[in-house]
Amino acid sequence: MTDTTHVRCVWPGPAILGEGPVWMPEENALYFVDIKAPCVHRYDAASGETATHTMPAYIGCLLPRAQGGFIGAFQNGLAFVDLARGAVDPIADPEADLPGNRFNDGKIDAHGRLWTGSMDNAESEPTGSLYRVDPDLSWHRMDEGYICTNGPAFSLDGRTIYHTSSYEREIYAFDLSDDGTLANKRTHIRLPDDAGYPDGMTVDADDHLWVAHYDGWRVTRFTPAGVVERVLEIPVAHVTSCAFGGPELTTLYVTCATKNLADEARAEQPHAGGLFEIDLSGTGLRGVPQNRFAG
Ligand code: BGC
Ligand code: CA
Repeated sequence: MTDTTHVRCVWPGPAILGEGPVWMPEENALYFVDIKAPCVHRYDAASGETATHTMPAYIGCLLPRAQGGFIGAFQNGLAFVDLARGAVDPIADPEADLPGNRFNDGKIDAHGRLWTGSMDNAESEPTGSLYRVDPDLSWHRMDEGYICTNGPAFSLDGRTIYHTSSYEREIYAFDLSDDGTLANKRTHIRLPDDAGYPDGMTVDADDHLWVAHYDGWRVTRFTPAGVVERVLEIPVAHVTSCAFGGPELTTLYVTCATKNLADEARAEQPHAGGLFEIDLSGTGLRGVPQNRFAG
C-alpha cells in the first residue's frame, strides 16, 4: 500500500547530511545530526524552534546516556557530549589507523550498549566495520567489509539486530545474544535497484521495520518477515533516517540530505535537507521508547 499521509516539512534546513533522529520524551524534542556540517540540531516540537550546536568533527550519530548527556560517534572516534556545557570528551578511537574513515549511524540496544558503524568518508572502499561499545567503554569490532554501514535497529525482543550495507542495498539480520555476540548473518531485505539505498531504520511497536531510502524518495515499512507492508512517499530524493516521536510516539520524523544533489534536482526539491513530520495518530501505528547508553 502506498500511503499519502500528510507529510509536513517542519524545519527547512537545509541539512547537508541530516541523520540520526532521536526523540527525547522528557524534553518533547527531537535531536538529529548534520554529519557534514558538522552539528547537532534540537527541534522543539511544541514551539517548532530549532537550536543548533556546532560539533568539532563529522558526527555520525548522537545518542542519549541513561545518566544524562549523550554519547557521539565522530570522524575521530567515540566521545561523551554535553551540549549544555558545549563539551566533547573523547572515549576511544577504534580506527585511529584509518584516517579516511568516519563513524556513521548508531543505536543503543536493550542492554544499554552502543552499536555504531564506520565507513570510508569517500564512499568507495570497504573499510567500514560494525562496532559494539559496552557500558564499561570497551569496544569490539563485530563485522567488517562495508563501504557504507547504516541503520542499526533491533527487534522488539532484542534478539535480532538489523544492519545495513547501503551500497549493496542489503539489510542484514544477525542473531544477537544477551552477551552481545552475533551469529547467523543473513540477508533480511534487499532493496530493488530502482528503490535507492537503504539508510537509517527504526522498529515500531508491532516489530515492523521502517527503512529510509537514500535516493529513493520514500520510507518503507516492512513486516518482521521482510515483506513490504506500506510505503510513505517523501517529497525529497535523499531520505536518510526516521524515528518515532511525539507524546504518544505516533509521529514519524524523517531526516534527509542535500549532499550530492545537483542544482537542477535541488530546484525541483524545495524541501531537500529539511526535517519532516508525519502524523500517524489514528492509524494504530506507533514507535517504542529508545534505549539509552548505560555507560
Ligand atoms: C551516509 C552517506 C551516504 C548515504 C548512502 C548515509 O548514512 O552518511 O554518506 O551517502 O548513507 O545511503
Ligand atoms: Ca545514515
